[in-house]
Amino acid sequence: MNNNFCFPFDHNFKIPNSIAEIYAGKPYPVHTSVDKQLFDRKIFDWLRLENIEVSWCETHYKPALPTSIKISKYGTIHADGGEIDNKTKINFVFGGNGSQMVWYKFKGDLNVQTHSTSLQTPYVRPQSITDIEEVYRCSFKTALCNVGQLHSVENPNEERACIQFILRDSITQERIEFVDARARIERLLLLL
Ligand SMILES: [Fe+2]
Repeated sequence: MNNNFCFPFDHNFKIPNSIAEIYAGKPYPVHTSVDKQLFDRKIFDWLRLENIEVSWCETHYKPALPTSIKISKYGTIHADGGEIDNKTKINFVFGGNGSQMVWYKFKGDLNVQTHSTSLQTPYVRPQSITDIEEVYRCSFKTALCNVGQLHSVENPNEERACIQFILRDSITQERIEFVDARARIERLLLLL
């Protein structure tokens, strides 16, 4: 049964081997941009076949943290961008054995605060954790993720890095919504 949050998929493209390779010996910042050349360029050619362009590539690092910690400098429950919608990323997870991405919804009316990441990208947070409830969780290595809905990551066992491709349509230059992106990826998987 399809969900509106996460679509894990397998592929055979060359991607970085480890967290250490992503950061190339430097300290691990919480949030930083990533050179797309860490990836085999064939993955970008493949996505292009469905007019998917990777407009930006970034990585988040999070050490192992108890799941009871909901807010820390390594993250909080949030939706990417300045609004709740269905914008989509492809996420590649490194390490984080047993980690899960968790999605939430508002129990009642939307009640958000807008914030900004260290890279000056906006995100929204719920005013209160009591306003929301969990709706979905998923463990994956590579997945299309709906990051316009409230989400967070739980990795209690092992440090985790997540490289994220921000997607846009190569013709319209608009961000691609989850259901549309999933349909395109499903078609592309038939070509592998
Ligand atoms: Fe996010």
